[in-house]
Amino acid sequence: MGTSFPKGFFWGGATAANQCEGGWNEDGRGPIPLDMTLSGNKVTPRFTTMQLSDGRVVKVAPFAPEPEGAKRVVVDGEYYPSHDAVDAYHRYKEDIALFAEMGFKMLRMSISWSRIFPRGIESAPNQAGLAFYRSVFQELQAHCIEPLVTICHYDTPLYIEEELGGWSNREVIGLFDRFVQTIFTEYRGLVKYWLTFNEINSQLVAKTFAPEHAAGMMQKSYQALHNQFVASARAVRAAHRIDPDYQVGCMICSFCDYPLTCDPHDVLACQQKAQNMFWYCGDVMVRGAYPPYAQRIWNDDRIELAWGDGDVEDLKLGTVDFFSFSYYSTSCVTTHEGVEKDGAANMSLGVKNPYLEYSEYGWSMDPIGLRYLLNEIYGRYQIPIMVVENGLGTTDIVEPDGSIHDPYRIEYLRAHIEALKAAIADGVDLRAYTPWGCIDLVSASTGEMHKRYGFIYVDRHDDGTGTFDRIRKDSFYWYKKVIASNGEDL
Ligand code: BG6
Repeated sequence: MGTSFPKGFFWGGATAANQCEGGWNEDGRGPIPLDMTLSGNKVTPRFTTMQLSDGRVVKVAPFAPEPEGAKRVVVDGEYYPSHDAVDAYHRYKEDIALFAEMGFKMLRMSISWSRIFPRGIESAPNQAGLAFYRSVFQELQAHCIEPLVTICHYDTPLYIEEELGGWSNREVIGLFDRFVQTIFTEYRGLVKYWLTFNEINSQLVAKTFAPEHAAGMMQKSYQALHNQFVASARAVRAAHRIDPDYQVGCMICSFCDYPLTCDPHDVLACQQKAQNMFWYCGDVMVRGAYPPYAQRIWNDDRIELAWGDGDVEDLKLGTVDFFSFSYYSTSCVTTHEGVEKDGAANMSLGVKNPYLEYSEYGWSMDPIGLRYLLNEIYGRYQIPIMVVENGLGTTDIVEPDGSIHDPYRIEYLRAHIEALKAAIADGVDLRAYTPWGCIDLVSASTGEMHKRYGFIYVDRHDDGTGTFDRIRKDSFYWYKKVIASNGEDL
């Protein structure tokens, strides 16, 4: 191909606090909604346990309207995967040593907001929370691993979500501002790269997953998203003020679809889905203003956004330094009647693509789509790009001798790294690749441990048993070789 990965390319992996740390109520950490969310599986969704005003406890399905006055509650005897997760809160030094052994140059991780501000509203931060992440960053620095820190990865404090009504309340922008200014000031010299909100477009997924409830939810969701755009833009401005070396990126879930047929109706529907679910966020965060087609979306969904004084200026001046996204799979869009929407992709539901193979969890595997999307994004924005999530979540088997053979994962990652290489040859300015769940962790969609992504196996199971021991999989040794050769030895 001629072109290779640039010198200084950030090879690494990605995690998130709520899916790997555990220690959910230790050292002053406040609860988050996911702490009251149970585990599910391929067919059963993750229910949330809630207490009604008359004291009864009910299980509420994802996207379903919450019963009036109900509060999330932890119920004795139920298993909540986030409570211990994979115990990284106590084992991070061992984990970082393993990442260093693979040769990681970057670790994407997140800071748990409620470790720093337990309810999100306190005027002073929790010192134990600050000390914990300081120690993590120092450990990374000692191993020459650059942190890429997600400021909010699905873990807004419970108090904000329940008592303040969540992100559709403008007040939350100010609370987030206090949180980010605290960490930007605290971790100067230890962190350089930041992401504001994980998969900021995930606010809109009810449209595809729960259309029966979506109509009533969309006004709130678009307002919440607008408030997050403003909060993110203010964070970018604060970061640059506090340390001119700070680089802040957006993080968007890739909704990458193809028209199922060449019927122009399908092509247009596909374009509109991409605008609605993906470019809508990228255009605001990279270009600093809503794109012209936003008006069509607001009209279609009957949205009236409430703007605050200064929002226009914040969005304009708080544009991101780089673009990042998660990429697992693609699906197809059609306007034709009677075609089943049986092709799931991460956060998206579409029609199955007959040209692709599907994983155990029903997600398509499409490395060419990654090259295609990278070209689309770079062609539109021409700012540096990081692929901050990618990977194959599936069952792994521990052999009697303790080894774990995962050629399927190696094959998936190899094909995607080849696609990255091809995109670089196409001219894309790609800076980092941090595959998801580099160490096994709790699945976001199913809550399972069974859906594993890691190079490192964690002995933890869906019934809450296991020793938390870490075991190197075959892919661990393979990825080590890939990094050592800067992506040449695949
Ligand atoms: C992304 C999220 O949507 O996909 C992660 O940012 C998540 O938090 C990842 O874990 C993989 O999804 P899942 O459902 O397989 O864990």
